[in-house]
Amino acid sequence: EQIEKGGYDHFMLKEIYEQPDAIKDTFRGRMLVEQGIIRMAGVDDHFEKFLQAPRIIIVACGTSWHAGLVAEYIFEEFTRIPVEVEYASEFRYRNPIIHKGDVVIAISQSGETADTMAAIKLAKGQGAFVFGVCNVVGSSISRETHAGAYTHAGPEIGVASTKAFTTQITVLTLMALKISKAKGILSKTALHRYLQEMELIPAKVEEALKSNEHIKAVAEEYKNASNFLYLGRGYNFPVALEGALKLKEISYIHAEGYPAAEMKHGPIALIDEQMPVAVIATRKGHYEKVVSNIQEIKSRKGKIIGIVTQGDTEVRGLADYVIEVPETLEALTPLLTTIPLQLLSYHIAVMLGKNVDQPRNLAKSVTVE
Ligand code: G6P
Repeated sequence: EQIEKGGYDHFMLKEIYEQPDAIKDTFRGRMLVEQGIIRMAGVDDHFEKFLQAPRIIIVACGTSWHAGLVAEYIFEEFTRIPVEVEYASEFRYRNPIIHKGDVVIAISQSGETADTMAAIKLAKGQGAFVFGVCNVVGSSISRETHAGAYTHAGPEIGVASTKAFTTQITVLTLMALKISKAKGILSKTALHRYLQEMELIPAKVEEALKSNEHIKAVAEEYKNASNFLYLGRGYNFPVALEGALKLKEISYIHAEGYPAAEMKHGPIALIDEQMPVAVIATRKGHYEKVVSNIQEIKSRKGKIIGIVTQGDTEVRGLADYVIEVPETLEALTPLLTTIPLQLLSYHIAVMLGKNVDQPRNLAKSVTVE
């Protein structure tokens, strides 16, 4: 097992560090950057279905559901197709409305999650076209769907999902960009710009990973907190949810993720000097609004951990700690902002002596209801 961990203390840490390569493996062969072309066999073979879809329904569980939420923002912005993101366990039992032309995208790292599988069968039975985004090749979900795209993240052993999440977002982003271009929404130049930037993401993830030692210090400071709040807006709202989930899963500290502006409708009541609040405040997208959310936290004495764009000064002036990520196009920021939150939960869990790779009560893949 030590050999399999490749010198890392835990699979989770190894998998966090594998993300630059995993993302590269995900887009390799699919992007012809100079020509501005995205090739994905599973999408190409059924392209009309995507172009004509009146609606996309995404079904998933856990971290994969969070990737689905990021995809909702990306698909709606770039393809203008309405998207619904559903917990597979809810979808399957609520007699959902599915029309013939609807495209259902099932996201699953393992490809074995029972609820997601049941949601697929239901959607197929009602005439939807079902597309799978899976990591495990040949898995049940990849076989049950009409078509799909693999994430090519390589085996993920740690129960808390890391590289599966960022590679799922990569696949879904490529799909949205491809459809957008074909619909005439994204110009050739704009697509080219996105592809160029996507190609730089692995190096930028690498750069984000360099904050590891600093993140350890942040973890040391807040490891004894009994609650954490995670806030983000827009593309980074789902990242806040995912950050909170990661902490809960492996450190057993209660954490909630919230859209930053929604804080005033509840979680703000919890904020005092004991409460660390991780706020994703990258320079793109609602930056000034997030800064004002940070001011609200500060005036209630909450402890602020800002996830910011390199070179940021405004949040730095307000936060107790800032963790920088490189600048990128707004729609791609989740691929970077996720990284420090993974490391933060990892270090807190290690410091608390928890079983990081096999947290209590959790399973890597949930094949029963
Ligand atoms: C379990 C795992 C999570 C995962 C979820 C969905 O809860 O512990 O890490 O996100 O299942 O799994 P899937 O394989 O369908 O993505």
